[in-house]
Amino acid sequence: MQRFHDGRDWFFEKRFGMFIHWGVYAVRGWHEQLQWRGRMSKAEYVTLMDQFNPVAFDPDQWLDVVEAAGMEYICFTTKHHDGFCLWDTAHTDYNIMRTPYGKDVLAMLAEACHRRGVRLCLYYSCPDWHHPNSVNFGGDHQLDAPNPGDQPDLLKYVAYVKAQITELCTNYGRISAFFWDIPPKINIPELNATLRELQPGIMINDRGFGPGDYSTPERHVPDGKGFSRPTEACQSVGRQSWGWREDEDYYSDLLLMQSIDKILAMDGNYLLNVGPKPDGTLPAEAVRILRRIGDWFGRVREAFYGAEPASHLLAGGEAMLTRRGNSLYVHFPKPLASTGIMLNPLRIQPERAVLLNDGRELRAAVELVPSFWQSGAYLRVAGLPVNELAGEVPVVRLDFADLAAALAANDGPVGKEYLL
Ligand code: GLC
Repeated sequence: MQRFHDGRDWFFEKRFGMFIHWGVYAVRGWHEQLQWRGRMSKAEYVTLMDQFNPVAFDPDQWLDVVEAAGMEYICFTTKHHDGFCLWDTAHTDYNIMRTPYGKDVLAMLAEACHRRGVRLCLYYSCPDWHHPNSVNFGGDHQLDAPNPGDQPDLLKYVAYVKAQITELCTNYGRISAFFWDIPPKINIPELNATLRELQPGIMINDRGFGPGDYSTPERHVPDGKGFSRPTEACQSVGRQSWGWREDEDYYSDLLLMQSIDKILAMDGNYLLNVGPKPDGTLPAEAVRILRRIGDWFGRVREAFYGAEPASHLLAGGEAMLTRRGNSLYVHFPKPLASTGIMLNPLRIQPERAVLLNDGRELRAAVELVPSFWQSGAYLRVAGLPVNELAGEVPVVRLDFADLAAALAANDGPVGKEYLL
């Protein structure tokens, strides 16, 4: 992937982060878009802030989970579509300081992140279902009609957004990325310019004004063997909501591992979301999922860091490859079908094959196998404990004496299939 050669290159070193959706909507434990999807009037919705009192909020507990999951950055919702602000902003009273809690949670979180070396990224919604001057730019996730008494005014709303992003990029130390949400279908280059001026090393996403620095596929794993521009896929631990949902349908650990593995093997980053509860703690099931993922990720992470995507070396699409130094890493983001695989069209002999999941050595050799579709001898990796490993994504490291030379000499016809 092409680097920027400036402060933004942190993005290529820190590959896995936590998305955090938190706001007054957590009080109801239904969905972060309660006001819109739940068809709640603004008059009723604003009363939630009087009940928002996260007395158990402790940013270090969040960051303990971030670290246990193997994550190295967080992206925090400072203002979601409901317009409620989780920092001490001078530009609206609709903010955390006016709740019974009365403390700047962003300041507390930022202090903990900077102290612990966890990168801080900020999410900010373009639609705003509260501010009287907010304008429906024609994007989605907008109220059907302005709230009673509202006076939509583009210039005033843009001035409001600019004043707020100025606060966010001035008062909370280094901000590593800015995650606009819901493209407003109108370009106001001044807003991205403000971010860049105040935080020169900031990564800006593609959901605001123009293509930004990186793409943000959401809740899906794109096809393909690699990304052509910096990309950060986002997904939540539950399929219904990003904010805390009491009755959430959680994804399986395996599904999340498979999507993390595929996105990272394609050279993308992964942002996995959790919605804290109204008391400020993380839901127990989300914590369990993140710790389980971290347990697996810690054992396979060398396959991603400092590695480049190399799936183009394979004919088939079921396994993926990354490459680092003299090693190739074989990934199985789809369920492994058998105890052995043919890595067609590779005919290169590794010195060693290691299953990163548990450190065991595997057999790997260039072999002719009897399958009728194989057109020659290919690299075969055998002895994979498929049933034992059914709960996680296997990753195998193949070590070569001189990988570049072996690949340069690799030739011969490509067989039709690689799976044995
Ligand atoms: C969508 C949702 C929003 C969520 C975001 C996360 O845009 O509307 O609620 O914050 O995805 O990427």
